[in-house]
Amino acid sequence: MRAAMDALGIEGVYELLPTKAGGLEARLGAVRERFAGVNVTVPHKERIVPHLDEVTPEAAAIGAVNTVVNVEGRLVGHNTDAAGFYWALERAGWLTGEALVLGAGGAARAVVHALVREGWLVGVHNRSLARAQRLVEELGGWLVAPEKLEKAVRRTPLLVNATSVGLDEPEDMPLPPGVLPKSGRVVDLVYRPLETRLLREARAAGLEVQDGLEMLLGQGVRAFELWTGRRAPVAAMERALRERSA
Ligand SMILES: NC(=O)c1ccc[n+]([C@@H]2O[C@H](COP(=O)([O-])OP(=O)(O)OC[C@H]3O[C@@H](n4cnc5c(N)ncnc54)[C@H](OP(=O)(O)O)[C@@H]3O)[C@@H](O)[C@H]2O)c1
Repeated sequence: MRAAMDALGIEGVYELLPTKAGGLEARLGAVRERFAGVNVTVPHKERIVPHLDEVTPEAAAIGAVNTVVNVEGRLVGHNTDAAGFYWALERAGWLTGEALVLGAGGAARAVVHALVREGWLVGVHNRSLARAQRLVEELGGWLVAPEKLEKAVRRTPLLVNATSVGLDEPEDMPLPPGVLPKSGRVVDLVYRPLETRLLREARAAGLEVQDGLEMLLGQGVRAFELWTGRRAPVAAMERALRERSA
């Protein structure tokens, strides 16, 4: 965000505001007075919802807010993860119309919401099946049971890892070794590290891959545009993100 503000000559600060669970209301009071908006991250994405004046239908459906916009003292909650994910797919030209999503947490909900809204066919698999079942009942798509997973992975044109497997544990895989799409593409939302084992193995198998920085960039672009009403300087933002992650 700082790179984006610098690129457009916008004066301002974008800084971390560590906030304890009990301090959310006070923090939002300060935001209402002094900030154009804030990003929200774990563990506040869900618990912030009842504290806001308004939540977009998209954020309400996903059940999580990652961007708050201060509209003349009214705090409006958005979820830019869904738009950011789809923005990254469009940018890559990967509009395959069908996908298999691993995970059923906040990120998976944003991904499935974005895809279903665009009319895609979406299979969802998660370690806790009940959570995936709830997701598909609320957002669409269908449940992929464990015994059907391997076949579904092999035939999907787009596999999305929206679990946190691989986060800070680069050798962990969300799938058994060797289970990859036959000829599809693979997106991993994990961005720490950028090159997860899933992406490394997919690349070695000749598949095209996309790392988690693309969606991170996309959600930041959307948040910046909501806060400023200006077109985001994508190249400057991308350069800053990639430099920071190198
Ligand atoms: N690139 C981006 O812009 C972006 C944006 C948002 C999130 N993310 C990334 O997406 C990932 C998920 O985030 P989230 O907010 O959705 O987290 P979350 O709500 O905590 O959900 C975690 C998901 O990972 C699954 N999981 C965790 N450990 C597992 C394991 N050992 N084996 C199988 N499944 C496991 C969970 O399954 P259970 O339901 O069975 O526990 C759940 O589906 C994180 O790595 C996060 O950094 C990236």
